[in-house]
Amino acid sequence: MVCFRLSPVPGSGLVLLCLVLGAVSSYALELNLTDSEKATCLYAKWQMNFTIHYQTTSKHYKTVTISDPSTATYNGSKCGDDQNGPQIVVQFGSGFSWIVNFTKEGSMYLIDGISFSYNISDNATFPDAKDKGVLTIYEPVQFRIPLNNIFRCNSLSTLEKGDVTQYYWDVHVQAFVQNGTVSTKEFLCEKDQTSTTVVPITPTTMSSPTTTPIPREKPEVGSYSVNNSNGTCLLATMGLQLNITHDKVATVINVNPNTTDFSGNCHPQVALLRLNSSNIKFLDFVFAVKNENRFYLKEVNVSLYLLNGSVFSIANNNLSYWDAPLGSSYMCNKEQTVSVSGAFQINTFDLRVQPFNVMEGKYSTAQECSLDDDTILIPIIVGAGLSGLIIVIVIAYLIGRRKSYAGYQTL
Ligand SMILES: *[C@@H]1O[C@H](CO)[C@@H](O)[C@H](O)[C@H]1NC(C)=O
Ligand SMILES: *[C@@H]1O[C@H](CO)[C@@H](O)[C@H](O)[C@H]1NC(C)=O
Ligand SMILES: *[C@@H]1O[C@H](CO)[C@@H](O)[C@H](O)[C@H]1NC(C)=O
Ligand SMILES: *[C@@H]1O[C@H](CO)[C@@H](O)[C@H](O)[C@H]1NC(C)=O
Ligand SMILES: *[C@@H]1O[C@H](CO)[C@@H](O)[C@H](O)[C@H]1NC(C)=O
Ligand SMILES: *[C@@H]1O[C@H](CO)[C@@H](O)[C@H](O)[C@H]1NC(C)=O
Ligand SMILES: *[C@@H]1O[C@H](CO)[C@@H](O)[C@H](O)[C@H]1NC(C)=O
Ligand SMILES: *[C@@H]1O[C@H](CO)[C@@H](O)[C@H](O)[C@H]1NC(C)=O
Ligand SMILES: *[C@@H]1O[C@H](CO)[C@@H](O)[C@H](O)[C@H]1NC(C)=O
Repeated sequence: MVCFRLSPVPGSGLVLLCLVLGAVSSYALELNLTDSEKATCLYAKWQMNFTIHYQTTSKHYKTVTISDPSTATYNGSKCGDDQNGPQIVVQFGSGFSWIVNFTKEGSMYLIDGISFSYNISDNATFPDAKDKGVLTIYEPVQFRIPLNNIFRCNSLSTLEKGDVTQYYWDVHVQAFVQNGTVSTKEFLCEKDQTSTTVVPITPTTMSSPTTTPIPREKPEVGSYSVNNSNGTCLLATMGLQLNITHDKVATVINVNPNTTDFSGNCHPQVALLRLNSSNIKFLDFVFAVKNENRFYLKEVNVSLYLLNGSVFSIANNNLSYWDAPLGSSYMCNKEQTVSVSGAFQINTFDLRVQPFNVMEGKYSTAQECSLDDDTILIPIIVGAGLSGLIIVIVIAYLIGRRKSYAGYQTL
């Protein structure tokens, strides 16, 4: 899955990356936990790695990948008892800890939840991190498996929580092992059921579009503004969806306004709105004035963090979108696409922008995009109806006059 996302230059790096992966896959974690009678109670073998985004002291974002937990210890792992369920506890690297716990529910057992902690104070792993201390994320997995079945998932599973993305593959796990014997009955994850091969990770399964959920959910609408010494000078309200295409596979990311910072600046002829988040190094919208009486979106310059920690950048300063008269705002409620390049598009929803001449922090009257025309269709229909009525009245009046004129003649 990550294979295709990574290279901004089509084709480059793919083969190399997947070869590297082959080497990485040898670092499997394995735990055969036994009870007081030396009988196996919990068995697990799996591979995992993590990418973590964090903010630096200079307010930028960095991404680190944590892999190679080959030095792992399993202190704290336990079979469980009447009070507490079984648990796998793994410590690795410089202060990472990973815990999964299990519960029994009737004839099933659950992978209850996974928690992952990292010490962001560790300067060697997280250089210049703004935050300090140990951060923990918890993912309630709640995945059900029939008792006396071993769960297998060779395919890649991805869990995203806050700043952490967790990758798991080559997973074999059985909790509540009966009679000390790991079951031969396999309970497969959905992705393994559909794939015909048992080969762990191949470039084809990784780049298959089915491994990338494409969110066609509408993005949430965010409100952004820029201030200068005279108060608010730029306003933008919009839902943003980023579409990155690599090797004919599109990755669609909704921008979450709750976790997006914004800034910018305003000049008489040019205005900038810049967005930042843990995934967006920067996303710049540059507006310009043309013919002294209109504004438009002239440039988009973007740099995104990809899942493997590399950066995708593209810029186009020859755009012509969102054109409206100065002193008004531009509005488009329908989905609209800003095509920055063949590899990068932005879909906008419920858009309204005013990059110049903002008065008292409020939008001026809007010029609507042609896509929104059906909203002005109603006045047109009403208008057309009215003018039709007027024509009918005029004709009726003329006919009436003619009749009475004819009447006089007979006199
Ligand atoms: C982490 O795992 C994913 C999925 O297998 C892989 O694409 C990525 O390259 C790995 N990263 C490292 C640094 O091993
Ligand atoms: C991420 O993947 C791309 C290729 O798709 C590669 O060029 C880049 O070096 C990778 N970055 C890391 C940190 O592995
Ligand atoms: C784990 O246990 C081993 C032996 O019991 C001990 O040497 C090691 O220090 C422990 N590691 C941690 C991280 O507690
Ligand atoms: C699993 O771990 C989480 C967090 O560590 C905890 O809240 C939850 O109660 C645990 N569940 C069980 C069954 O122990
Ligand atoms: C986190 O890392 C810092 C710096 O390496 C260290 O001083 C601190 O003791 C660590 N905290 C924990 C809980 O391991
Ligand atoms: C475990 O052993 C008991 C008694 O020997 C037997 O009845 C049961 O079927 C065994 N369970 C499994 C899963 O082998
Ligand atoms: C993403 O971009 C690709 C390539 O331009 C296009 O085929 C696809 O329909 C786009 N997807 C969305 C959701 O906009
Ligand atoms: C953003 O925050 C609002 C209000 O706190 C919340 O209702 C919404 O679900 C959040 N959206 C996302 C994508 O986190
Ligand atoms: C895009 O932004 C980068 C970093 O600020 C800058 O170096 C580059 O010149 C910009 N590209 C364009 C076309 O403006």
